[in-house]
Formats: sequence, C-alpha cells, structure tokens
Amino acid sequence: MPWSELAAIPETYATAWTCLFRNLELAPGQKLLIRGATSSFGQAAVKLAVNAGAHVVATSRNAERFAMLEALGAVRVELAGAGLSGRIVESGQFDAVLDLVGNSTVLDSLTIVRRGGKVCLAGWLGGLAPIADFNPLLQMASGVYLTFFGSFVFGTTGFPLADVPLQAIAQDVAAGRLDVKPSRVFRFEEIHEAHRVMEANEAGGKMVVVLA
Ligand SMILES: NC(=O)c1ccc[n+]([C@@H]2O[C@H](COP(=O)([O-])OP(=O)(O)OC[C@H]3O[C@@H](n4cnc5c(N)ncnc54)[C@H](OP(=O)(O)O)[C@@H]3O)[C@@H](O)[C@H]2O)c1
Repeated sequence: MPWSELAAIPETYATAWTCLFRNLELAPGQKLLIRGATSSFGQAAVKLAVNAGAHVVATSRNAERFAMLEALGAVRVELAGAGLSGRIVESGQFDAVLDLVGNSTVLDSLTIVRRGGKVCLAGWLGGLAPIADFNPLLQMASGVYLTFFGSFVFGTTGFPLADVPLQAIAQDVAAGRLDVKPSRVFRFEEIHEAHRVMEANEAGGKMVVVLA
C-alpha cells in the first residue's frame, strides 16, 4: 500500500469505526442513516457499515453525488435538509443515525430512530452554532439515546487506540474488501491548490499531501 493511501486510514477510519461499533453498537442487518455522507468521514462510515452488513441510507445536499454513495453500497440516498424526518419513509424505524451535519440536524435525527435507537453526533458540517433554546421536555424524542464522539480522546483513559481494529482494517484494504484510496493526492508544492479544492467543496473525499 502506498504511504499516501496508508495515511488516509488512521484518523478517519478509527473515528468512523468507533462511532459505528462503539457509540452506536451497530449490528449486521440494522438500519443506519448517515447524514453528511459525502464527506471523507461519511464515506469511510458508509464503507465500514456496508461491510458490516448494515442497511445504509445516506444523505447529501447534492443529487449529483447520490450515485457515488450508491456505488459505495448505500441502499438509497436522500436529499439533505433539516426536515428530513418528515420525508424519509423509514422515519422512526432506524436503529442508528450517524449525524455529521451536526447541531442543526441532531434533534431531527433523534426523531428518525426507533425507541431504543441511537444517534451519534460526530460532525458539524452545518456549522457550530449551538442548538438554540434547547428544551428537552419540548424538543427531545422519548426513549432514544444521544451520544457524542470526538477523536481527541484517542489515547486517553478509556479510549486506547488498541480498541480500534486498525490491523483488520488494513487487511481488508489489502484483500480488496475496503477501498481507502484518497480522492486526491497532492505534492507539497501543490498545497495552495489542495486548499482551493477543499474550500470549493470539490474534494470529493479524503485528500492527502505528500511531503517528499
Ligand atoms: N468527531 C470527530 O472526531 C471528527 C473527526 C473528523 C472530522 N470530524 C468532523 O466531521 C465532519 C466531516 O469532516 P470531513 O473532513 O470528512 O469533511 P469533508 O470531507 O471536508 O466534507 C465535505 C462534505 O461536506 C458536506 N457539506 C459541506 N457543507 C455542508 C453543510 N453546510 N451542510 C451539510 N453538509 C455540508 C458536503 O457534502 P454535500 O455537498 O454532498 O452535501 C461535502 O461533500 C466535519 O464537521 C469535521 O469537523 C469529526
């Protein structure tokens, strides 16, 4: 595996794996919604969840990106938006939601899972503005679980890196069961272009800059 590919694995896949299999306790056959699925993090989560036998529905704001997510194994892609719970047919039936859009959608996500279902908040693509006037009595769905994960805890007490099966993930890559190729690889001299691509929302996945 080239270094540019290996470098694309650790933070993204360790975080996605922990959200899916620790926070959400995802099991084969379960229904999972991933909001913000075209992000690098979202694509990693789609691939890991599909490989684990989950029924994955994904969201993007851009209909032109639906085919890419379906090619990764999502059974369907929904147009992103705050009122998704009112449009999605499995509303109230999902076992789990990985919400990478964040504070603007998480309360909606809580209404999408079944009783006992879990929502993991782990991305803020929609911005970091706090949830205004959050009143659980009036706004929170009953009987569901809300959980958070931030990769900055890796290596601290309770979150050993050894918990994440990085070796098994690398073996899946080597065996062709998991494609972790970055969408773009830049030389260090091209770093301005890498920033331009990222800021123009044209990355289409993980980008790697090679130093030498
Ligand atoms: N919890 C953790 O430990 C952890 C670790 C890594 C990253 N993160 C967070 O996870 C999120 C994803 O990170 P990333 O590096 O994978 O992102 P990324 O690849 O840069 O994400 C790009 C995608 O974001 C979507 N997007 C952009 N603006 C959006 C908006 N206003 N609303 C909804 N979607 C929007 C676009 O999807 P469409 O145009 O297709 O909708 C685009 O495909 C970020 O918020 C990042 O901070 C968290």
